[in-house]
Parts: sequence; C-alpha cells; structure tokens
Amino acid sequence: MVRYLITAALPYANGPLHLGHLRSTYLPADIYTRFLRMNGEDVLFVCATDEHGTPIVVNAEKAGKTPKEIVDYYHKYDKELFERLGFSFDSFHRTSSEENARMTQHFFKRMKENGFVEERSVEQLYCEKCGRALPDRLVIGACPHCNAGNQYGDQCEKCGHVLKGSSLINPQCSACGSKPAIKTSRHYFFALHKFSGKLKEWIEKNEAFQKEVKNYVINWIESGLHDWDITRNLDWGIKVPGAENLVFYVWFDAPIGYISSTVARTKEWEKYWKDEGSRVVHFIGKDISYHHYLFWPAMLMSVEEGFVLPHAIPVRGYLNLEGKKFSKSRGWYVSVEEFLSMFPADYLRFYETMITPYTTADADFYWKDFMSRINNELVANVGNFMYRTLSLIKRSYDVPMNFGHVDENIMKRVKERSDEISGKMHAFQLKESLDSILALSSELNAYLSANEPWKKDGEEKLRILSTALYGAYSLSIMLYPFIPHASEEIWKQLGVRKLMWKDLCKTPKEAGIKEVVEVKPIFSKIDSKLIEQLEIKLRKGQI
Ligand code: MSP
Ligand code: ZN
Repeated sequence: MVRYLITAALPYANGPLHLGHLRSTYLPADIYTRFLRMNGEDVLFVCATDEHGTPIVVNAEKAGKTPKEIVDYYHKYDKELFERLGFSFDSFHRTSSEENARMTQHFFKRMKENGFVEERSVEQLYCEKCGRALPDRLVIGACPHCNAGNQYGDQCEKCGHVLKGSSLINPQCSACGSKPAIKTSRHYFFALHKFSGKLKEWIEKNEAFQKEVKNYVINWIESGLHDWDITRNLDWGIKVPGAENLVFYVWFDAPIGYISSTVARTKEWEKYWKDEGSRVVHFIGKDISYHHYLFWPAMLMSVEEGFVLPHAIPVRGYLNLEGKKFSKSRGWYVSVEEFLSMFPADYLRFYETMITPYTTADADFYWKDFMSRINNELVANVGNFMYRTLSLIKRSYDVPMNFGHVDENIMKRVKERSDEISGKMHAFQLKESLDSILALSSELNAYLSANEPWKKDGEEKLRILSTALYGAYSLSIMLYPFIPHASEEIWKQLGVRKLMWKDLCKTPKEAGIKEVVEVKPIFSKIDSKLIEQLEIKLRKGQI
C-alpha cells in the first residue's frame, strides 16, 4: 500500500516569514498534501521550526535576548501564521525538542558505529576578542569560488557554493569585525565522499526528479563531494555525546527534524519512514538542494536502519519583490503577517501558485500583477461563475429541488479535465493544474451564458441549472487544494460538508445537494487605490 510522508523545509525560527518562503516550499507542499487527502490517501504532513545554528545566535545577540527566547517566540509566531494561511500540517514540531535531540544522537551513534563518522583535527577561525570559534555566520569575508564580498562562512549567496569558514578570503568576525586567529580543534566529520557512487546511481535512475535539478546535482557529485564537518564549538545546539564542548551543526539535526516531528505525532512513525511502500516527499527552495539531494540521503543510507530514500524532492525557485531580493534590513519586504492584515489567505495562495510553474526559475511579486490576477482571473472567472450559478438557483427555487439531470457533455468534459488535472497534480505540476481549472471555469461560464437559463422554465431550466450546479461544485473540489477557504465557503452555501475528489463523478443529487442554503460572493475585487498606496509604502520603506 502506498503511504505518503510530506515535508516542507523547516523555517529558521529567527525572523518573520515573508511572501517568498511560501512560494517555493510551504504552499506547494500544502496544495499537494490536500490533493492527496481528497483522494483518500494515507498521508502525514510534517514540518517544524529549525531552531539551531549561528543565525539564531547572532540575532539573539543583536536583540539582547537568549537564543531560547528568540526561538520560543518564532515557533509560536510561525505556527499561528501557518494556521491562518491554511497550511494543514499534521505535526509542526521543533528541532530543539527532546525527540530531535534523541534522534540526532542516535543517528550520530549509528553513523559512527558503521564507520562513516570520524574524528579529525581542524584548523578553524577563532576570535580572540569575543573569545569564541567562528563557524558559519559568525564569520564574514569574500567567497573563494566567485570572489563575491560580504559572504558568510556557510554558503555563498552569489554562486551557491557551500563554504568552509576558514577558506574565506579576508575573514572577519561578524560580531566585532576583528581579524580572526587560527586554532586547532577536534571535530567529527561525515564521510560524504563514500556515498558518491550510490548517490549518483540513485539520482540518475529516479524518474520523479526534475531533469534540470538532476543535472546540477550530478555535476556536484562529479566535481567531488567533500566530507562534512558535522560539529561546532557553540553552546547553542544539540550536545554531541562524549564531547562536552561540541554541538551538532544545524544542518545535521535539521533534516532529522522531519523524522522527529513524525515521532512526536504518532507511535507508528516507522511505517512512514521505513515501509517499502512509503513515499517521502520533501518540498524545498532551490538554495537547499545540496542538503536534500546529497547530505540527507547519504545520512539516511549511512545509519543502515532501513530508512526509505526520498521518493521526490520538488524544487522551486525564489520569489523576489518587484525586481529585487527580499531584505528586511533594507526595508524591501512584505511580511506574511502584514499581507494577511489586508487580504484573505486564499488570494496569496492563488497568486503565488499562478506565478510558480514547476521549475527552478525565480519570479517576482508585483502588487499590480497581484491585483490583476485576482480581479481578472479569480473574481471575474471563478467567483463570477459560482455566484451567478448559486444566485440563479436561489432565486428560481425556494424549496429543495431534485437536481437530477446533468448535461452529459458537460459531465464528460469535467471528467476529462479532472483526469488531466489529477495527472498533473501527481506530477507536482500545481500551477499547470490551476491553469486547467481556470480554463474549465471559463468553459462553464460560457455554457451558462449560451444556455440562458433565465429565459427558460420547467424541466429545461432545471437541467441547465443542475448542470451549472454540478460545474460549480466540481470547481470547488478541484480548487480546494489551492484555495481551501473559498471551497469551504461554497460547500457551506450548498449545505454540504467536505466534498472529495470522487464526488466529481456524482450528480448534485448523488452528492447530497438539494438546495442553495445561502448565497454570498466568495471573493471581492481589489481596489486599485489600495494597491497604489502599497506600492508607495514599499518604496518609502526602502533606504
Ligand atoms: N532551515 C532551513 C531549512 C532546513 S530543512 C531541513 C532553511 N530555512 S529558511 O527559513 O531559510 O527557508 C525555508 C524555506 O523557504 C526553504 O525551502 C527556502 O528555500 C525557502 N525560501 C526562503 N526564501 C525564499 C524566497 N525568497 N523565495 C522562495 N523560497 C524561499 O533554509
Ligand atoms: Zn561565491
């Protein structure tokens, strides 16, 4: 039996989520999960806040708080915001949890026993003034691969290379600016290179991986995988057993968080992680491909405990804001919280899906484009058809009716479309599915206009309106993964509980719909004055 374990990359608990985070990761993961659930699949959707690592240490220092205070705040913050967006996690846990500490230490022990982890002496940067080692974001300098300045010691933002702090050109302590000294210390290394062959074979034969991603990942393997320092001299993190002064590197315990978040949810967590029929799917943004296609599967292999390897790892590109990168410090930023204070969550879900094909290409959020997509596609097409249909029915029949006969051509058309959409959804082509749903909505609008039920009566009128009603709830079913709040509102107006994908084959009567209980427009147009104000506000915030 097929079983699904879906994950969305764990957000760092060190700042407010912005519109970009949703595009590549959380939104596609939720849409896919909701689609599977509508088909009655056995699925668990897990996530957590990623609470370790130097960015959190740095932020806490800046804010005059402890790392624990910061992560407690943002765990709660992210959880609430995700709920408002309708992200339907079965478990939203934390990497600083007991479960994660235990699982991480267990992974380490097994990897060591199996000969994939060894202790080595390393030269690392040390700040005499701050009295501490400078791993990852505690050091800043120029990238040794592309020369880009102002890069942190963990990864170059310009060329994407994963870095080693001690290889930066002209390094400086990111807290005090001092030139670091070099100190030798003992660290644990994961022998990633031993998995080159296995990883390559696994990636090459996996049909569910995107071609473009396969290409660059294979390239990385062919240019040589470096063993990976999985420990740090920090106080904040999961303690390394038997080494008092060390904690695990954040990228070691973070993906293990996918497992521990499942453990926190069900005693039967192993069914999802070890049964042969289980499909583990990780949704990520393109910047963390290396970690998910290479580090993580190698870790799963190295424990030798029967973990299944990821079935698919859908990668999507970045979202920029009106032509530039999101940047909180530069004021070029729209937080999800701010957005939700003005617009319904479904508008964001709809718009971001519309600008996100299944590729690693980047896209931009433009306030004007957002307005026109909502007004012209969501309101004028889908909203209009739903409202027209339901209000025509409500006006024509004030008692429950026998909505029996549905035009066969329309039913056939909807079924054809739903098969096509279902295929695309399974292949992670979510925007492409939404395009097909919108095309179907246009066809249904045209059907209604051409058949003019307002000029008809008796059986003929009932048949036309039954057909439109069937079209309306068919759309609500297909749209549910994308805009669940709107679909739930339609179901309320039709006096039914949740509908499932299989209800697409049913007439209104078979689906239990007898009347329109109430009619309200589900969407409203966005005012262009508001959009102009938002554009001005964004530009003023800029330094
Ligand atoms: N904590 C790591 C992931 C650990 S997974 C074991 C991390 N966190 S993050 O908060 O920086 O990013 C969370 C997700 O959002 C990642 O998938 C990342 O690719 C994605 N995005 C962050 N900024 C983004 C945009 N501007 N646009 C699209 N996706 C973005 O990475
Ligand atoms: Zn670089």
